[in-house]
Amino acid sequence: MHSYSLIAPAKINLYLEILGDRADGYHELVMLLQSISLADRLELRANGRQAFRIHCDSPQMPPQEQNLAYKAAQVMSQQFPDSFHQFGGVDITIEKHIPVSAGLAGGSTNAAAVLVGLNLMWELGLTQPELQEIAAQLGSDIPFCISGGTAIATGRGECLDPINSPDWLWVVLAKYRSLEISTPWAYNTYRQQFGDTYLTDADSIQSRASRVHSSPLVEAIVGQNGAQIGQQLYNDLEKVVLPEHPKIARLKGALQRSGVLGTLMSGSGSTVFALCDSQAQAERIKQELTDDLTDPDLGLWVAQLCSNGIHVGAVAK
Ligand code: C5P
Repeated sequence: MHSYSLIAPAKINLYLEILGDRADGYHELVMLLQSISLADRLELRANGRQAFRIHCDSPQMPPQEQNLAYKAAQVMSQQFPDSFHQFGGVDITIEKHIPVSAGLAGGSTNAAAVLVGLNLMWELGLTQPELQEIAAQLGSDIPFCISGGTAIATGRGECLDPINSPDWLWVVLAKYRSLEISTPWAYNTYRQQFGDTYLTDADSIQSRASRVHSSPLVEAIVGQNGAQIGQQLYNDLEKVVLPEHPKIARLKGALQRSGVLGTLMSGSGSTVFALCDSQAQAERIKQELTDDLTDPDLGLWVAQLCSNGIHVGAVAK
C-alpha cells in the first residue's frame, strides 16, 4: 500500500487530578480521558526516499523537526531500520482541524496517527500495546490517542484502563485562538503553589488513583447519567490557569450560565468545554455565544464524544 489516510481525533479531559511528583520530573496523575469527533486527517504517502517530510495547512504548526508527527516517524525509523530501508520514508500531509496549543492533544494525536500509519505501511504487525509502548517515549497523551474512546489514565497518563464511552453526549469547545498556555508552565506553577499537598509514598498514590474506578464520575458514565457526569467534571490545573487568565474563567462562566450539564477546562487549556445532552443544544449554545461575545479571536466548535481513537479513513492505492 503506497498511501494511507488516517483520522486522528482530539481528546478532552473529563477529570484531571495531580497526585504527586515523579522521579522523572513529571507528575503522578489520575485522569479520565475522552476522544471527541473533532479530528485531524493525515495522509501518509510513500516518497521513495530515506527521509520524512511534513506538509501542513496550518501556519501555527511547529517546524518539521519540532513537530511531534515528525518525531514519531523518526522514532519508528530508529526502532525498525530494516523496514525503513526496505519501504522508505513517507510524506505526511496534515489537514488540521484541531486547534493548536489548546489542551486537546492535537500534536499528540498526529503523532499517534503516524505510529499507526507506519505500522500499516511497513507491515510491522505491531499490536496496540506494542505501539503504545513506543508512543509513551514520545509524550504522555500519545498512548491514549492510539486507542481513544474513554479511559482512566494513571502514572504519567500512559497507563490506561478503558471504560464504556458516554458517546451520546456532545460538547461545545471554546478557545481564544491567540491564548496559548504552556503545559510545562501550568504543571510547574501547580507544583510551586500546591506541591506541599502532594502525596509522597507510592502506596498512597496507588490507592488514591485506584479510587477513581468507584468514583461518582465513573459510576455516572457506567450508569449513563449525563447530569451527574456534568457535576463531577474536575481539573486541578484550573486552579493555576484560571486566576492567571481571567478571560478563560469568564468564558467558562458564560458557558455554565447557558444551562449545560457541566463545564471544564481541558488539560492545561486554553480550551474550555461545555457538556451537552444533544447536538441541538450544543449548536444552540455555539450560536448564542457567537452572537453574545462577538469576538473574532474566539473559536467555537461542536463535537460528539466518541469511542474510537486513530482509525483508517479512505485508502488510496
Ligand atoms: O508528556 P508531554 O510531553 O505531553 O508533557 C508535556 C509537559 O507536561 C511536560 O514537559 C511536563 O511539564 C508536564 N507533564 C507533567 N506530568 C505529566 C504529564 C505532563 O508534569 N504526567
